Amino acid sequence: MKAIAVIDQNRAIGSAGELLCRLPGDLVHFKKTTLGKTVIMGRKTLDSLPGGKPLPGRNTIVLSRKARLGRFYDDGSFSGFFLSSPEEVLAYIKNEIHGEEVFIAGGEQIYRLFLDQCDELILTELIHAFPDADSYFPEFRDQFILAEEGPLQEENGYRYRINRYRRS
Ligand SMILES: NC(=O)c1ccc[n+]([C@@H]2O[C@H](COP(=O)([O-])OP(=O)(O)OC[C@H]3O[C@@H](n4cnc5c(N)ncnc54)[C@H](OP(=O)(O)O)[C@@H]3O)[C@@H](O)[C@H]2O)c1
Repeated sequence: MKAIAVIDQNRAIGSAGELLCRLPGDLVHFKKTTLGKTVIMGRKTLDSLPGGKPLPGRNTIVLSRKARLGRFYDDGSFSGFFLSSPEEVLAYIKNEIHGEEVFIAGGEQIYRLFLDQCDELILTELIHAFPDADSYFPEFRDQFILAEEGPLQEENGYRYRINRYRRS
């Protein structure tokens, strides 16, 4: 599986339940990368999405300890499940996904739960620090090496690169 995230220079990913900043180019990249694939996210990240709904065109698995099991929003564009433990997520991937790509899409709790299972990280790295952040991507540089460095981009006053890391 692969983790996909936007991080700042200190690995910050969020503040007060929201993303750090809006980067239209990164949203295009996220959509292009994950469309038609399975995306795993925490319940707080689901709540932060527009209308608290999963992203269209992806099979979304939401991790929550609360009892909300069952398929949700299966109207042709939204679909997915709540699962209640990381073990259930891993069993679902093993039994149902059959080798297709799976993306860990946050937030902090979910990145921490699955980092050890990831073989690749796709990180949009901001050349900027957000001192008010309260959510962080886990330390990864001890386990991963930079495999592909993307071009320097600038949007809304933020400079960033989209980089790929592989397990060292
Ligand atoms: N920069 C990025 O790329 C990026 C991406 C995604 C999110 N974010 C940001 O990250 C922040 C949210 O991160 P977060 O860590 O607070 O929340 P989160 O990881 O999105 O969700 C946490 C929730 O996941 C469920 N959960 C966690 N561990 C579990 C376990 N072992 N078994 C079952 N369920 C479990 C719980 O849901 P219940 O409470 O329902 O039990 C928990 O409250 C927001 O600011 C968001 O904007 C940033």
